[in-house]
Amino acid sequence: MIVDIKYKNSASTQKSSNQVLFVDEKFTISSLKKHISTSEFSYISDLLKNREAKKKILIFDINSKKKIILIAISKSSSGFDLEKLGAKFFSILKDSNIKEYLIVSETLSYKLKNLIGHFVHGIRLKSYSFEKYKSKKNKKNISIQVIGKNIPEQKDRLKFNAIEEGTFYTRDLVSEPGNVLHPDEYAKRINSLKKFGLKINILDEKKLKKLGMNTLLGVGQGSIRGSYLVTMEWNGSKDKSKPLAFVGKGVCFDTGGISLKPAKFMEDMTYDMAGSAVVVGLMKSLALRKAKINAVGVVGLVENMPGGNAQRPGDIVKSYSGKTVEILNTDAEGRLVLADALTYTEEKFKPKFIVDLATLTGAIIVSLGSEYAGLFSNDDNLSKQLIKVGEKVEEKVWRMPLNKNFDKLINSKNADMQNINYVGGAGSTTAAQFLQRFILNKTPWAHLDIAGMAFSKYGGALNSGGATGYGVRLLNKLIEDHYE
Ligand code: BES
Ligand code: MN
Ligand code: ZN
Repeated sequence: MIVDIKYKNSASTQKSSNQVLFVDEKFTISSLKKHISTSEFSYISDLLKNREAKKKILIFDINSKKKIILIAISKSSSGFDLEKLGAKFFSILKDSNIKEYLIVSETLSYKLKNLIGHFVHGIRLKSYSFEKYKSKKNKKNISIQVIGKNIPEQKDRLKFNAIEEGTFYTRDLVSEPGNVLHPDEYAKRINSLKKFGLKINILDEKKLKKLGMNTLLGVGQGSIRGSYLVTMEWNGSKDKSKPLAFVGKGVCFDTGGISLKPAKFMEDMTYDMAGSAVVVGLMKSLALRKAKINAVGVVGLVENMPGGNAQRPGDIVKSYSGKTVEILNTDAEGRLVLADALTYTEEKFKPKFIVDLATLTGAIIVSLGSEYAGLFSNDDNLSKQLIKVGEKVEEKVWRMPLNKNFDKLINSKNADMQNINYVGGAGSTTAAQFLQRFILNKTPWAHLDIAGMAFSKYGGALNSGGATGYGVRLLNKLIEDHYE
């Protein structure tokens, strides 16, 4: 479905079209007199007497060709409240036969918080669907005109748009099946983001081998596809300040390897590259909105397959950090990819902080479901910032513990550490504790386990099901509120 949105500064004269008008939470309509006719006014006033108290969006059929839609907003509404209303509005118009709407912006009198911008943002985020492989596409075309003096400024429109484009790019990548988006193809797609001003560097197997990134390489060695570490740099700050670093797990498909996963739901593992996709989508949105910061995205791209050359349980590999790892379960592969990516990022870019994202453990779904991402961090300040901005954009994170006492669970007899905890318990924390060993210079670091957030079977407030793009708005807000 295509939703076309146009802005026009002029006042409304087109009373004949379907109008979207904002009112206060009591549905006071006296101020709407200049936008609707006297007969419409009395018709609506009459029907409002019996309105359902809970509904915030009311639709009035004026005649067979015209509807008036009233949307109730309170003074205390947040940007996210408006996004949710926009999304709800989209769900209504998706099922309706009307194709053209006029949003009359000056009926929303609370100008301050760019509420109209958030409303439209909600419409757009909810309208995304992945139809690439459907022969019959939904050809419905909805056109929305936003008119009047309260339309968002150009610079805010560009910002919302950049975040939408970034989120959609993430969702596209996550939605692609494993046979299409394997590491070779993925590296090529990231390379095409050069055109937005990102500096891309692709390290292929030969280079990774030279650098000694053996924990990453070990995961991909059973696949006929290549393994890669790709870096994306955005230099938007005039000074040479330290970059913010974002690292993502890009396991294009996770069969489990020789420690093979059961067949049921194995197809879900096409989204095991979601952490990397968030990093790529975020970098794209930073470039599109020309964010005034320096940032770097680093993603490890591999396919975890069984095969004649695949890694075996019991193998011992030496990581880029020099630390050795005994592989007890080839299905605990995300941490192996991230281990090398984290050390490399810290050493090469000397960032202000590192945030990594990964669909790392099934255990985090047991703990937090699809309500919160798990946050593990060595830094209270960064944690507080993430928790706060997460609430603002409703991409929430919940802090989970790290503690040296967990270390004994991943110490190995034969190497410096092992990649799983054989005793059992604390599956997400031991994974995070493993990652922490690869931050060598105490750089502020936060790990987000997004296994429960990346994909939604039923849809959420701002997505219609499938890949959610969770993380792009969270990290954009982190940057905007604290680092820009
Ligand atoms: N990619 C999975 C984690 C996952 C599970 C993501 C479900 C999304 C949905 C990860 O690589 C994995 O297999 N983790 C294992 C670790 C175990 C072997 C220690 C798990 O969670 O079972
Ligand atoms: Mn796995
Ligand atoms: Zn995995």
